[in-house]
Amino acid sequence: MAQASQTAARLADHVDRLGLEHPPIDLASVDYSVRRPRELDRRYGHVLDYMARVELEVDRNVLELTTLLPDPPEIDRRFYAEVWQPQETRHGLILDELQMHLGRPAAEADLTSVGMKLKILGALAHLPAFQDVCRMLYYLTGMATERSAVLAYNLLHAGVVELGEDAIAQTVIAPIKRQEPGHYAFYQLSARGLWTELGTWQRWMVRRMRTFSFGPVGANNDRQKADFGDLLFSLGIDRDADDFAAQMSRVERELLWAHRRGLPVPPYVTKAFREAVELAEARRAA
Ligand SMILES: [Fe+2]
Ligand SMILES: [Fe+2]
Repeated sequence: MAQASQTAARLADHVDRLGLEHPPIDLASVDYSVRRPRELDRRYGHVLDYMARVELEVDRNVLELTTLLPDPPEIDRRFYAEVWQPQETRHGLILDELQMHLGRPAAEADLTSVGMKLKILGALAHLPAFQDVCRMLYYLTGMATERSAVLAYNLLHAGVVELGEDAIAQTVIAPIKRQEPGHYAFYQLSARGLWTELGTWQRWMVRRMRTFSFGPVGANNDRQKADFGDLLFSLGIDRDADDFAAQMSRVERELLWAHRRGLPVPPYVTKAFREAVELAEARRAA
C-alpha cells in the first residue's frame, strides 16, 4: 500500500509539472518556411501524414478510453484531459498544416469510430477487477506508442536537419519531440505501479489480451499497416526493426515476460513490425 501511495504522489507531481512546463505549442511560434518543399515532401511527406493522423486521432482515443475505463482514477482523467489531449491535438494540427504547405492533402483522421471489441471490454470493465486489466492494457499501449513517438521524432528531426530545413527542425519537430518523453514517463510510472497490484489471473489475462491485440500505433487495417511499413522505411528503421521493437517494448517485456528469460522482444511486437514492412514491400512491388 505504501508503494501505491508513493506511485500516486509521483504521478500527481509528474502531471502537475507537465501541465506547467509543457503548455500546448503556441501556433504563432511555428515557422513553416521550407527551402526545398518538393524534396522534403519526397523524403518525409508520408511520414508527416502518418504522424499528423495519429496525433489528430487522439480525439478518438479519448472516446475509446472513456468507453474502456468507465471509472478511471482521477489522475488518469487529469492526464488525458488536461495534458495529453491538448498537447497531441496541437502536434497533429501543426504537422498537418506543414504537409499542406508542401502541397499535400490534409490527413484523413478517424475521430469518432469506437469498435465493438472495445465496447464489450468497456461493459466488462464495470467490474473493478476487470477494469484494472483494461487499465494495464491502456498503459502498455500508451508506453509503446509514446516510446515509438520519441524514437521516430528523433529520427525525423535528424533527417530534416540533414536536408537543411532548419526552420522546420527547430520550430516544428523539436518542440513536438520535447513533449513526448513526458507522456512516456506517465504511462511507464502507471504501468509499473499497477502491475505490482495485479493478481495472478489478471496478469495472465493481460498477457493473453496483449498477445492477440497488439498493433503498431495508427495501423488498424492493411493499408495503414503498409503505411506504417513505409514510415519505418523512410526513417531507416526497417533495416533495424528488431532493435526498434526491442527499445519500444523494453519495459513491457520486463514486466509481463520477466519469467521468460532470454526473450529479447515479445514475439507479437516483432511479428507486427515484420508484417508492416512486408505489406509495404508488397505494395511497392505491385
Ligand atoms: Fe505527439
Ligand atoms: Fe505523445
